[in-house]
Amino acid sequence: MPIYFHEDQKVFHLQSNKVSYIFNVLENNQLGHLYFGKRLIDRDDFNQLFYVEETPNTCFVTGKSNHFSLDLIKQEYPSYGTTDFREPAHQITQENGSRITDFKYIDHIIFKGKRKLAGLPATYVEDNHEATTVEVRLFDQEMGTELTLSYTLFEETAVIARSAHYHNKGDQTLQLNRVMSASFDLNDHQFDLHQLSGSWARERHMKKRRLTAGIQSVASTRGTSSAQHNPFIALSRPDATEHHGEVFGLNLVYSGNFLAQVEVDHYDKARVMIGIHPFDFNWQLKPGEQFQTPEVVMIYSAQGFNGMSQAYHRLYRNRLARGQWRDRLRPVLINNWEGTYFDFTEAKIIEMAKAAKQCGVELFVLDDGWFGKRDDDTTSLGDWFVNRRKLPQGISGLAQSIHDLGMKFGLWFEPEMVSPISDLYQAHPDWVIQVPNRVKSHGRHQYVLDFSRDDVVDYLYQVMADVLSGASIDYVKWDMNRYMTEIGSFQLPVDQQQELPHRYILGVYRLYDRLIETFPNVLFESCASGGARFDPGMLYYAPQAWTSDNTDAVERLFIQHGTSMVYPLSMMGAHVSAVPNHQTGRITSLEVRAAVAYFGMLGYELDITTLSDQEKQQIANQIHFYKANQAFIQTGQFSRLISPFVDGGNQVSWQILSEDKSQLLVGYYQILSRPNPVLRRVQLVDLDPESCYQLAGTDQHVYGDQLMEVGIEIDRYTNRSGTHDFQAHLFKLNRI
Ligand code: DGJ
Repeated sequence: MPIYFHEDQKVFHLQSNKVSYIFNVLENNQLGHLYFGKRLIDRDDFNQLFYVEETPNTCFVTGKSNHFSLDLIKQEYPSYGTTDFREPAHQITQENGSRITDFKYIDHIIFKGKRKLAGLPATYVEDNHEATTVEVRLFDQEMGTELTLSYTLFEETAVIARSAHYHNKGDQTLQLNRVMSASFDLNDHQFDLHQLSGSWARERHMKKRRLTAGIQSVASTRGTSSAQHNPFIALSRPDATEHHGEVFGLNLVYSGNFLAQVEVDHYDKARVMIGIHPFDFNWQLKPGEQFQTPEVVMIYSAQGFNGMSQAYHRLYRNRLARGQWRDRLRPVLINNWEGTYFDFTEAKIIEMAKAAKQCGVELFVLDDGWFGKRDDDTTSLGDWFVNRRKLPQGISGLAQSIHDLGMKFGLWFEPEMVSPISDLYQAHPDWVIQVPNRVKSHGRHQYVLDFSRDDVVDYLYQVMADVLSGASIDYVKWDMNRYMTEIGSFQLPVDQQQELPHRYILGVYRLYDRLIETFPNVLFESCASGGARFDPGMLYYAPQAWTSDNTDAVERLFIQHGTSMVYPLSMMGAHVSAVPNHQTGRITSLEVRAAVAYFGMLGYELDITTLSDQEKQQIANQIHFYKANQAFIQTGQFSRLISPFVDGGNQVSWQILSEDKSQLLVGYYQILSRPNPVLRRVQLVDLDPESCYQLAGTDQHVYGDQLMEVGIEIDRYTNRSGTHDFQAHLFKLNRI
């Protein structure tokens, strides 16, 4: 068993061949944290890992030895108010007003496999031998409440998935004010904190700061995980690089408000925690009720950031994504959004599809504007009935025409929203998130539907199921285009209003679950104004996500680079769009745009009918190249070689290596040209040093060790073309 329990010292040891995670039962029967990091040999005696320095100005737990202060002890899931002055993992208000809790160890079970999390997305196993779980049961006598901390160790990827579960077995109603998914304390604070932050059209840029005394955090209180901050943080030793050094990653499998924080205390220890944001959160737990926190996926890498990312990629590709599309090659798509926006007719769509088909595109996606009276963004969300003026044959007729061309057909929805000008809103004004007698703000002229209500979720299921079963639809783009304001529900009781954001997300998950179950063949792509909900929660339901509304190739270098910190290429939608680019006005060549989009799930998003024959031929060649290599692009090992987030950000390089190391694709990008440039060179990684690789399309041969130690000298193969901005050079190498 890779999870050991040492009865004498009451120590738990989760051990893979790369990592150890060790915690114990303290003398007050709460849980202490001992170690998270590089694998340690399992021993009966872990006393060495527990040391408490006697310090002045400390409070001690009554009745215990004079050394026993929780302020000085590393903890596993700390409580509020008893000698520990750092922020706790949980806080629970009881009927007498007390917020003091005391969850003591009762027992535990260790088993092969992993349980599902009720109502929530989570990583999973297909075979029980893939992972081992320990569930540790703790009990607070005063409240009569059970807390179960669950840890699953995925042996192959050395990933630990954690969550907490509360069960009120007492007779009073509890208020869960704060229930984080995980917490642990590190011995020191010599770390950089990394985050993926930005905004609409600038999602998941990499930011870092050195830890210092106090609390540093990233969070969302917008109702979704957000474009502003991804539910992810990493801590790295300052000398860590992409390929070497220690990195810890935490990623919350959740799509709503979250908090990820590190608190550096007065002894320079660092407390790390992540979970649902406690701000404006309160959950009433009545006698007999249970509450499950979302899961956090924790990774320790001694092989730098790429080591961490590759473990996330592997796990998410294989054991977060589900359904038949998990392992199938994704269709190259064309989406009409940037090509036509709302201004299309059936004839135009078919004309675009025909031209796309000739280039080898496999799926046509009809975006926003096909329903109700929607000719701009002011009306009709919620009225999911085809607009016959635009599409006289209806969706079924159009889908048939697209299929007749030999293509798949996909359709856009934004199920969680309603326009004030819509039949749905007229019929159900109470279905909108709002607070009585207060302003009802709108964003993009729309309101957020109250997905905490079963009747709303049931209605959406029915209308979407009607559309999906009434036509031959292979793909759904599920969009979501505004954050929550005036958070209130007409259905929830007054004292449960702060449950709304979490209940909302549970409602979204319920709708996804039902649709996936009814339509298992449909490929879902999630989207939220581009990448405002690019999180593992969504990716459990939809195996790919629209990475960003920003389709500019240069901007995409930053966005896709940052996104790859956690999420695999198989989950990133990447489209070639028209120039001048609609978000930045920049003109880049078709070649550069494709060379960036190859590092993701390729699509086109432009009016292909307006392109010249030469451009269409170029697209046909691009799709041919992509399809020939897609199998390893989708499943191979991705590495970041040169980052745009350092050294002025003028160069970027990425590598994808097939599982068997027999083929690889390297992308090298230079944003601006420089006069008399230095020799441009990129060193590859993880190749077989003995093997010889041939540069496709040439008779050049290079050995694996030389590609890694010396690298590819870009100008040797590209005739020193450093004279224009926005360059991309692709190198496909095959082992011979
Ligand atoms: C936002 C999405 O990110 C776009 O791709 C597009 O679907 C629009 N919404 C449509 O309104």
